[in-house]
Formats: sequence, structure tokens, C-alpha cells
Amino acid sequence: MTAKPNIVVIGTGGTIAGQGKAAVNTSAYLCSVLGIDEILDAIPHAFALANLRAEQLLQTGSENFNNDHLLVIGKRVAELLARQDVDGVVVTHGTDTIEETAYFLHLTLKSSKPAVVVGAMRPPSAMSSDAALNLYDALAVAAHPSSRSMGTLVVANNEIHSARDVVKSNSFKLEAFHSPYGALGYVIEGEPRYYRRPARAHTLDTPWSVETLDVLPKVDIVYAYGALEAQAVESIAANARGLIYAGTGNGNVARHLVDMLCNAARRGVQVVRASRTGAGIVLRNGAQPDDDYGWLTVDDQVPQKARLLLTLALTSSADRRALQAVFERY
Ligand code: SIN
Repeated sequence: MTAKPNIVVIGTGGTIAGQGKAAVNTSAYLCSVLGIDEILDAIPHAFALANLRAEQLLQTGSENFNNDHLLVIGKRVAELLARQDVDGVVVTHGTDTIEETAYFLHLTLKSSKPAVVVGAMRPPSAMSSDAALNLYDALAVAAHPSSRSMGTLVVANNEIHSARDVVKSNSFKLEAFHSPYGALGYVIEGEPRYYRRPARAHTLDTPWSVETLDVLPKVDIVYAYGALEAQAVESIAANARGLIYAGTGNGNVARHLVDMLCNAARRGVQVVRASRTGAGIVLRNGAQPDDDYGWLTVDDQVPQKARLLLTLALTSSADRRALQAVFERY
């Protein structure tokens, strides 16, 4: 008989740690109230999958997570994965920004051991809560050898998603998580089944390690609409090293904002064209002459993930060509 793997479960809050007054409260409830021990104790079957150790790192809604929270979570996960007596880590997390924390880990952990981030759309107290099964599945994924070298994974609704691709795309339904090219695989009866591998570089194949990062450069996002005023964009760009412009359609920029964004780029702000549509490619020199304007484009990344990628890229280079190459590699 082979020994069970050792998995550490880190609690950070969210709906998976939430509690409503009644079972019918599927959308109105308190977040981040149950401790990670309580959450785990509610699924005793999970202890058959692995030797579990729980750790309460944070207890707050993921809408509050800033760059410092990402570093705190990342450093703790890295520390745990480096230990010989740890085979994998599961982070329980609010779903609002689960894709951002997971992507940050995907780009900055230096380990091939599984790191899985999991949340729930309904608290454990609600009818048809997804909390218990999502966590059980996440533990099954983290405990399984086939999950090694896959980068950071997000598990929800019996699906295993790559942290690079997954996006929360519904505000309240259980089927809230979507990857534009599909999930990597399924979890069925406590076992992961993979059908694909992540195509873009991650974890051991990136130049960034969370262990050596202490301060992250400021990168902001601007959401475009026709009546957006140049002054509003200017005031955001004034304090940032990078600006993700979530443009309309294929990253279009309204005429009255072009000069302002070109000036920002001349001052050294990295202006990156993205799309507010939530999917698809923003083609370099497509909708705008990016070479002439000194702008960058995101390839297929959604604005919130482009922000993280540029943030990390700026820790290693300020060269525009190198920064553009990052969007095409990761
Ligand atoms: C949060 O992101 O912390 C709140 C919402 C959720 O977990 O679903």
C-alpha cells in the first residue's frame, strides 16, 4: 500500500467559508466566517484522499486582495511546496478574484508540485452548495501525481482549469468558471482526468519567483466607454508604471484619448491595449498603430490577468520589446 500524500489546505476566506441564515440564502449570506478546520471537518471523506493539515492564513473576501495579499499567499504556498513533507497545497479562496491569485501563483511558484485554488459560489449552509464537492475535488486534484507540472489549477464544478485561462464569468450561478479554450480536465469520483496540458510557460519556466519579490510595481486598469474623459485616465496614468486599457471591442481607443495615452507612453508609462469583451485577441498594430504610439497589446489576456503579467514583467525589464514578448510567451 502506498502512503497517502501530504496536502496542506490554506484558508483565506470567501463564500466557501461563508454562512447564511437559512438554506434558501444562496446569494445573501456572510462571507469569510467559517474557519478552515470547520470547513474541512464538514467533509470527512476528504481525509481518505490525503493526510490533511489546515492553516488559516487570511479570513477575508477576495475583493479586498491587493498586491500585498498576493505576496503573502504566494510566499506561504512557496514555503510549503519547498518542504519535503508536503506533496501539494490547496488554497481556499473567494471566487471574485480567484483567477488573479491563481494566475499570480502560476507565474511565480518555483515548484512542479500541485497548487490548487478553490472557492464556491454558494456557502456550505445553502441549498445545493458547491463548497463541499469543489473542495473535495480540489483535494483530489492536489493529491494526484498527474497534477504535477500543470501549473496552478482552479477546480470548480468537476472541472480542472488552468490558472492562466480561467475567468469568473457569472456573478451568482454555480457554472461561473470558464476557460476560453476549455478546461484541462474533469474530476470524477475523487480522481482527476486530464485531456490537455497548459500550452504557455508557467512556474519553473518563468523568470519570476515569489520568494524574491517584496514590492510590486503599480499597474492599473482603465475600463473604456465612449464618455470616458481624458482627465480621468490621465490621473490614473500619473501614478502608475503601467496602464491596462480595457478598450472596446478589439482594444479600440477613442480618438479623444489617443494623445493623452501617447504622452503617457512617452513619459515611460507602459500603455497596454486590452479588450473589455472578456475574450479574444487584441492584435498588435491591428485596431491602432501600436509601433507608432509606443503601446503594447495583451494577446488574449483579460485585463485583470494582463495587469498581473505586466506587474511581474516590470520587475525584470522596462524594455518595450521585452515586455511585449512576455505577453506572447505566458
Ligand atoms: C469573495 O470573493 O471573497 C466573495 C465571493 C465568493 O467567494 O464567491
